[in-house]
Amino acid sequence: MRRPVRIAVTGAAGAISYNLLFKIAAGEMMGKDQPVILQLIEIPDAMNALRGVAMELEDCAYPLLHTITLHDNVEEGFSNCHYALLVGARPRGPGMERRDLMEVNAEIFSRQGKALNDFANRDVKVLVTGNPANTNALIASRNAPDLSPSQFTCLTRLDHNRAKGMLASQCGVTARDIKNIVIWGNHSPTQYPDLHHATVFGQPAMGQIDTSWYRDEFIPRVQQRGSEIINARGLSSAASAAQAIVDQMNNWCLGTEPGEIVSMGILSDGSYGIQKGIFFSFPVRCNYGRYQIVQGLDVGEFSRQKLTATELELLEEKGVVESLLPEETEESHTNLSICLKSGVTLYADGTGPSQESKFMSNNRVL
Ligand code: NAD
Ligand code: LMR
Repeated sequence: MRRPVRIAVTGAAGAISYNLLFKIAAGEMMGKDQPVILQLIEIPDAMNALRGVAMELEDCAYPLLHTITLHDNVEEGFSNCHYALLVGARPRGPGMERRDLMEVNAEIFSRQGKALNDFANRDVKVLVTGNPANTNALIASRNAPDLSPSQFTCLTRLDHNRAKGMLASQCGVTARDIKNIVIWGNHSPTQYPDLHHATVFGQPAMGQIDTSWYRDEFIPRVQQRGSEIINARGLSSAASAAQAIVDQMNNWCLGTEPGEIVSMGILSDGSYGIQKGIFFSFPVRCNYGRYQIVQGLDVGEFSRQKLTATELELLEEKGVVESLLPEETEESHTNLSICLKSGVTLYADGTGPSQESKFMSNNRVL
């Protein structure tokens, strides 16, 4: 049996986490041979609800679930974690855009960036889900001067999966038969779901769909899918978001299929002419726990306009949160080549947060 890895999850009593934690404990994210320690974090008012979630996790008797710890602050909850899933934040309601959440959510991520910097494992991999996800990832990363920006990502896999599902329905195939969709840019209505590199059964997708369907129906539908779900459910997506978190982390940590392209929100290094210093969704491949941007994809005039629109939106969002972006990390975020920090992996065995806390004792929920 392998040594357990520590996975910290914020917003652990929320709707996404209620779908996510059980998948992680079942081995869907880190593999069926990887034991996990769940370090669950909530705001103080939600600790009672979190106890209930922990009891349910315990009641599933998952063979891979090594330990659960509960925390009402990120400084303790991030202690020595190898993976940090930043889910906790306010969701939007009907009639709102994700960027309307900036004011209420942004500060959460500066504190979390600092706590990751000070308490997480030096190799920690961070995935930001809380909206607006790209700009929150920038805030967290810019507040963690001792970690490399390449350790931070934001969730755009949900958009990637949505695009795959919609194209599969349109072509009358299953999602497994679709490859190499690319989501570019922001997790917002300006994102650009690009099918020019996608294949259906190994054949170019663009040859199998009408251009007018692609431009007038598919693109806006993927861009607006979050709102469509909120309008139908009264609540934002939760189960599909949890699946996307599992998929993105699984690919990042365990690798993508040979030749397969997936989409991840990462710090721009200037690839495809996108300004450095913003978190932008790019086509990537992953292996050995690292991601690499797929270079050389053809970007025609139509695509370029879409890339520019979403880039401009992210630059604008960055401007709004400028006061939360410390100057000391400006250079490391615009010149990635100086960020070659790589740490020693600290494993479980007494290096995590205390297992005797006011919420848990001997790994039993109090
Ligand atoms: P939710 O309201 O059901 O749960 C959020 C939880 O976070 C709550 O339990 C709350 O107590 C907790 N929380 C708030 N601030 C916290 C903090 N500082 N530390 C720890 N916990 C904190 O919301 P949800 O449906 O789970 O969605 C969570 C976030 O994810 C929202 O911002 C939503 O918009 C976003 N989201 C993003 C994507 C994506 O693809 N990027 C997809 C779906 C939802
Ligand atoms: C989504 O895309 O479903 C989430 O970002 C939630 C939202 O506010 O749309």
